[in-house]
Amino acid sequence: MVTEMNIHSLPDSDQRLEAIFQAFGDLLFILDEDGSILDYRSGDVAHLYLAPSQFLGRKIQEIYPYKVGRKYSNALFDIHSINKMVLIEYSLPMGFGEGWYESRLIPLANRQIIACVRDITKYKQSEIRSERQLQKLAALRAIDLAITTDSDLGTTLTAILNHVRAQLNIDAASILLLNKNNQLLEHSAGVGFYTTALKHTSLPIGEGYAGMAVLERRIIHISDLHFNQLGFLRSPHFGAEDFIDYYAVPLSSKGISLGVMEIFHRSHLSGDGEWLSFLETLAGQAAIAIDSAMLFKELQQSNNELMLAYDKTIEGWSRALDLRDRETENHTLRVTEMSMKLARNMGIPEAEMIHIQRGGVLHDIGKVAIPDNILFKHGPLTEEEWKVMRLHPLFAVKLLESISYLAPAMHIPRSHHEKWNGTGYPDGLSGENIPLAARIFSIADVYDALTSDRPYRSAWSKTDTLEYISNQSGIHFDPGIVPEFISMVAD
Ligand code: C2E
Ligand code: SIN
Ligand code: SIN
Ligand code: SIN
Ligand code: FE
Ligand code: FE
Repeated sequence: MVTEMNIHSLPDSDQRLEAIFQAFGDLLFILDEDGSILDYRSGDVAHLYLAPSQFLGRKIQEIYPYKVGRKYSNALFDIHSINKMVLIEYSLPMGFGEGWYESRLIPLANRQIIACVRDITKYKQSEIRSERQLQKLAALRAIDLAITTDSDLGTTLTAILNHVRAQLNIDAASILLLNKNNQLLEHSAGVGFYTTALKHTSLPIGEGYAGMAVLERRIIHISDLHFNQLGFLRSPHFGAEDFIDYYAVPLSSKGISLGVMEIFHRSHLSGDGEWLSFLETLAGQAAIAIDSAMLFKELQQSNNELMLAYDKTIEGWSRALDLRDRETENHTLRVTEMSMKLARNMGIPEAEMIHIQRGGVLHDIGKVAIPDNILFKHGPLTEEEWKVMRLHPLFAVKLLESISYLAPAMHIPRSHHEKWNGTGYPDGLSGENIPLAARIFSIADVYDALTSDRPYRSAWSKTDTLEYISNQSGIHFDPGIVPEFISMVAD
């Protein structure tokens, strides 16, 4: 209200107008219909694009840079055609940096125009800042997603580098990871390079700019790479990349060095505080990704080792069984291979194969619990002996049920004596209630049993056996699988 009181106390209307401009800080032009500046008023002369002496007599569309001038030309055209206020917005390179302005052009009765220019730099800057903030959040979110969805470290790192490149407006970026075994920094991902100059980088800690950043645990910044290529002696082709600005940011997690992120630009980077702090944030994200991916890899590796140890163990068991039952030696191996081949021919997914393999290897493991006098009996079994013999699938289940990784492989040991018509054992399943893997396996098992000598009979011929299997289609065996099997064996 102070301003208003001053205005009223001023005697002359011109002076009053001046006071209003002082108060609002706007710039006011009075323009002729062709844009010529007839007069102007300004709150603060110090903040003008041009000195006032250069305004008068010139056309407003000609005093500004070309793009802004065009906006004024178009505005002048519009205002004459619609005879209503026209609003334009533009930016100008000012002493303090980029200035943003909003200009309202208001038509007067005599075809002259008042242009009222207001400095909106502050609003524009905060708008730009929040837009950038939003973009950063989106980038961080996208990186988070890449970390959680990709277990492959190389893919994750490349995704992060692409975000780094876009968000920091840089030409190229790479990540060198510290190899724990030899303590070398090795190129692991890179984006934006013309050449493969840095692809084979392998750098001791402390050597080169990247090695220095890791050793000294600080960001290294080189702003004139053309004259400072000593840090890149590692690659003779580096010069061809034509980089000028460079940052090496050490990557660490929980105090442990993981590697270094390198930023390359083919001109100078502004590198202001905001830019640098975002660089550090992104490097932090990269470190988290590396840390979790490495942890995952180690877990996977020890898990793989455990699996391998298990597989060796079950193979040992089944070999022990084959050794005990000398006449079925290699039976296990042969039927396992045959049923895997049949499964593949039938288009069973590769991921299932390991279960079929383990199940095949273990299919008769329950026979370890069958007494010698039954298992090796020369001649048909009595009803009592059959009761015991038919327990071998359930013995296998009892033996292995506590080993969780074998659970998906247990269909074969449990169900390989089920029959399509429901007269098999131990569960009396029929048709497609019998697990597919067991239906496939049982054909191979019977084929191999019949073509081998047994204590209770000698081997059948291949022709007789195939004929038998064919006759059992829809009785013992899945009629959908039998033809597949026969054509496989016929080959
Ligand atoms: P295995 O010898 O590995 O036989 C597996 C399957 O092949 C048998 O399951 C049966 O479906 C088929 N198979 C084997 N030999 C013959 C045969 O001579 N004729 C016909 N038609 N099919 C045959 P199965 O019948 O459930 O037998 C399971 C296991 O019981 C056999 O495994 C074998 O260890 C034992 N076994 C079966 N029959 C006799 C027998 O007469 N004497 C003795 N000592 N053991 C027998
Ligand atoms: C100027 O015109 O000189 C300053 C920028 C503006 O207010 O348009
Ligand atoms: C599968 O899971 O389908 C293969 C293993 C099996 O059924 O025994
Ligand atoms: C399997 O897991 O054995 C295959 C599915 C089925 O047919 O039961
Ligand atoms: Fe069996
Ligand atoms: Fe068998």
